[in-house]
Amino acid sequence: MIHFLKKKYIMVKFIPSFLICCYFFLFVNPSFSAGEAEKIKDFEFSFEGPFGTYDRNQLQRGLQVYTEVCAGCHGMKQVAFRTLGDPGGPELEPKQVKAYAAQYEIYDSETDDYRDGKPSDKFPVSGVENAPDLSLIAKARAGFHGPYGTGINQLIKGMGGPEYIVNLLAGFTGEEKEQAGVTLYENKYYPGKWIGMAQPLWGDDVEYIDGTEATIEQQAKDVAAFLMWAAEPKLNARKEFGFTAASYLIVLALLLYFTNKKIWANVKRKQV
Ligand code: HEC
Repeated sequence: MIHFLKKKYIMVKFIPSFLICCYFFLFVNPSFSAGEAEKIKDFEFSFEGPFGTYDRNQLQRGLQVYTEVCAGCHGMKQVAFRTLGDPGGPELEPKQVKAYAAQYEIYDSETDDYRDGKPSDKFPVSGVENAPDLSLIAKARAGFHGPYGTGINQLIKGMGGPEYIVNLLAGFTGEEKEQAGVTLYENKYYPGKWIGMAQPLWGDDVEYIDGTEATIEQQAKDVAAFLMWAAEPKLNARKEFGFTAASYLIVLALLLYFTNKKIWANVKRKQV
């Protein structure tokens, strides 16, 4: 009885404080970000959560924004054109992949000359010297959130690099200044607030074929989703595999449980 009371006491005392701790840890989550940049706002993406997958139409729109706006300065040297046709990505038709690759002039070291791109080539490197390569940027910039980088917001809300990219692209204030001969642009979300990239999106920068309205936020979300795919092209397959593996383990656990019961059934009966 005493033992039972003690247990109950622990439950009554301990559980509420534990829940309160959880609440503070997960949701009241103070910002420890560097500089005076504003806190990153959360956006919904189709690929978040345990079952989330990329939205093919969104990736195609993002590819369009990337091609027509960002590729002027940025490269994506780790991504091969052919992957644009892979399942789980923008899923272009083989003909479209070929035509897409052919838009680019690729330097061929064998002939020491430029030629039209082929599906087996990779996207070119950045054309502007200080513009970073965007192949992995969506994952490289995932570390801004969560108390001391535990990534808890990424787990709970799916917040990561894509959110940062959307905030960044929509976070220009219009202010600019000269510093040591370079122009810097004020951005609310860039650590340190002054970035060397001029505002690239203004709304209606591209005309979507699926009729989606090309607002700044829409284009920013589409290109962020596309860059997430570029950095993590196997996400759909990985989640499917995880799901299969988890179902398999659950079935195995049930089988083991019942086998265990059956094996010990006689012994248990004798004891009673
Ligand atoms: C006119 C050239 C230009 C265009 C167009 C451009 N960028 Fe940039 N971008 C830059 C430069 C230069 C930097 C480096 C800025 C710095 O380090 O201060 C940069 C930096 C970035 C960064 C890194 C920010 C960080 O946290 O370090 C991201 C992400 C980015 N650009 C995304 C994009 C996207 C997406 C587009 C298309 C919608 C785009 N950029 C269009 C020139 C450009």
